[in-house]
Amino acid sequence: MCKGPSQQQDNEPMPSFKRLRLFEPSVGVLGFFLAAVCVICCFFYLDYRAVVKGYRVPTQSDRFTWLKLDGSSSSSSSSEIVKRVDFLSFEGEGCDVFDGDWVWDETYPLYESRDCSFLDEGFRCTENGRPDLFYTKWRWQPKHCNLPRFDGKVMLEMLRNKRLVFVGDSIGRNQWESLLCMLASAVANKDSIYEVNGNPITKHKGFLIFKFKDYNCTVEYYRSPFLVVQSRPPAGSPQNIKTTLKLDRMDWNSFRWKDADLLVFNTGHWWNYEKTVRG
Ligand SMILES: *[C@@H]1O[C@H](CO)[C@@H](O)[C@H](O)[C@H]1NC(C)=O
Repeated sequence: MCKGPSQQQDNEPMPSFKRLRLFEPSVGVLGFFLAAVCVICCFFYLDYRAVVKGYRVPTQSDRFTWLKLDGSSSSSSSSEIVKRVDFLSFEGEGCDVFDGDWVWDETYPLYESRDCSFLDEGFRCTENGRPDLFYTKWRWQPKHCNLPRFDGKVMLEMLRNKRLVFVGDSIGRNQWESLLCMLASAVANKDSIYEVNGNPITKHKGFLIFKFKDYNCTVEYYRSPFLVVQSRPPAGSPQNIKTTLKLDRMDWNSFRWKDADLLVFNTGHWWNYEKTVRG
């Protein structure tokens, strides 16, 4: 009895054959689609390998112009070298640092995640299996001036006796952790950097305050995806309303960061239908 279906197939090969014929056109389309995807992937993979293995990248090649691998090639096709002043120099005053491009820079990254203990497990791309460092080699290049290269010692000196506070969602948290790593790479004694309440960084909710003892400064993070108050719905609201956002009130925790010397806010990612209306 249990062999029934296969016997049936043996006896009547026609239906399955017909089905195969019916599928033929879409198999062809699928094949073409896969081939196209392969060609596109090869294009990117070859470019990417050339970059990762440090082959000389032909900057004149048309294929790369859109990538703007060379900072000087960013403005038009003219071969003259663009001379840029330093942003912090006298002539650099007034330069629009937001007008620019991401450029490829072999001297990056500024740190590798394995050398930094201030990273959530989930943010450690290399340790979690990502084989390349392609994504770490981009540098922001304003069109009309040069930014100084990041220098942890200089920044820590500027932060002396100050509080630098990040407030927002996990994108801000990534930036905060990354900055901790960049600053920590300039400090020889890593034990002089610590969370003031002894909290571990991984999967911690709420807030974390890291102190750089030698500079008497703190670099802090406060989780607040909406920045504003999230609270109960007013009396008489429909059953399906679980929470409300009070747009005219800062997060309950704002008293903790309002005296900071520098504030970096980040929000937006949670202001969507799923997280607000349905959430
Ligand atoms: C450390 O910095 C705080 C401000 O964040 C300041 O009030 C305090 O006086 C500083 N301590 C020392 C020893 O300079």
